[in-house]
Amino acid sequence: MFRVTRRYQFAASHRLHAHGLSDEENRRLYGKCNNPFGHGHNYVLEVSARGPADANTGSAVDPRRLDELVAREVLQPFEHRNLNCDVEAFRDLTPTSENLAVEICRRLKRSWPSMFPGEWPKLEKVRIAETARNIFEMDAHEIP
Ligand code: NI
Repeated sequence: MFRVTRRYQFAASHRLHAHGLSDEENRRLYGKCNNPFGHGHNYVLEVSARGPADANTGSAVDPRRLDELVAREVLQPFEHRNLNCDVEAFRDLTPTSENLAVEICRRLKRSWPSMFPGEWPKLEKVRIAETARNIFEMDAHEIP
């Protein structure tokens, strides 16, 4: 069994602001990340899938299929967007990297069977580096 990981990048902006909290509480909680007009990140996304190497191809994951899925579900809708305004899931949900990882995992999991209809490979993990020091991992099995 193999775990295969592929790395992608996209740039997007966001503002950390919880709708349920006051402006003062938001400033205290998120600091400069709460600045009204937001800020950008060059996100590095790693998508991991698990499966056996195919007897014919010798590969566990077809990278072209994975690229197509990630481009359609994540890169095209998120690239150069404001996550708060342009992504429906973040209209009422703060686009922290934790919530972003959940949303990306959901999108990939939902469309996974259309690209990988067989038993393998399975989506295993999504990892997002927001900065070189802030890295967030989501286990795909935890998403219903
Ligand atoms: Ni940020």
